Amino acid sequence: MKHKSVLARELMTIIQPQKDRVYVDMTLGASGHTKKLLELSHPTGVVIAFDKDKEAIKNGEKLKEQYGDRLILVNDDYANLEEHLDRLGIDLVDGIIFDLGVSLDQLKSDRGFSFSIDAPLDMRMDQSKPLTAERIVNHWDMEEIERILRLYGEERFAKRIAKAIVKQRPIKSTKELADLVEQAVPRNVSLKIHPATRTFQALRIVVNDELESLQIGLKAAIKRLRVGGTVCVISFHSLEDRIVKQTFREYKQKGILRLINKKPIRPSEDEVRSNKHARSAKLRCALKIETEVKDG
Ligand SMILES: C[S@@+](CC[C@H](N)C(=O)[O-])C[C@H]1O[C@@H](n2cnc3c(N)ncnc32)[C@H](O)[C@@H]1O
Repeated sequence: MKHKSVLARELMTIIQPQKDRVYVDMTLGASGHTKKLLELSHPTGVVIAFDKDKEAIKNGEKLKEQYGDRLILVNDDYANLEEHLDRLGIDLVDGIIFDLGVSLDQLKSDRGFSFSIDAPLDMRMDQSKPLTAERIVNHWDMEEIERILRLYGEERFAKRIAKAIVKQRPIKSTKELADLVEQAVPRNVSLKIHPATRTFQALRIVVNDELESLQIGLKAAIKRLRVGGTVCVISFHSLEDRIVKQTFREYKQKGILRLINKKPIRPSEDEVRSNKHARSAKLRCALKIETEVKDG
């Protein structure tokens, strides 16, 4: 199964890609949204696409064979947007999209993102970084593990799980960790999701510094957007959505952004039926209406 781009139709209706414009896809992934931006901005629109995962960039290179110089690939964290725009000699852009989280390619890989596939506990999107999930699980203090499970997994059984982890280490694989979490949570609790979902989410967020990147990247995006340009973010859990909502609100109050949708746009029933990964997606978009006042 291939990664299906989430909320693609809704996203493109709002962005309305056009020729001669420059767009940034902060999260290339399986390149579905990038491809749509390139198609709709035919024949002269340019797309700059970021991904910190080398494998995603490799996929993007296939698209580059078709679109040539209209596609610029950047293998880096999108938090470094400004540095790359400066390097490319681009001041402002016309639209920026974020589609957060992991791609199906990553979930299906043997890099530890999913508890459904037994693999080493890695979880790094950028394989050049030193911190892995294995390092956290086997070397961090129990209190610190409990803290991240509570904070980034919103896991109410954080203490029990952290205790079980420390007791049973070394833990080497996703399956070992998932089984351990399943046994650590009380059996009589009814859960709609697998008991290890929140633990895996917390570890992934910490390994990839996801919330920090989002905070920095979103502010950089708003700064480098042309007045009249649109920024859109698809998030998949409440911690991400909260950052997007609060940042948009802050810039709205400063008179820099206007919200395009007050309530997040959710995928249609049809989309969720054909792609269960879309079920928790929320799309928020904002229009830049005023430039930031520069200090000094
Ligand atoms: C959900 S997928 C994007 C799917 C894509 N929109 C599509 O249509 O195929 C998210 C991608 O963003 C990348 N990513 C996540 N955080 C990132 C960051 N801070 N900087 C760069 N890439 C990031 C991940 O490696 C992953 O490939």
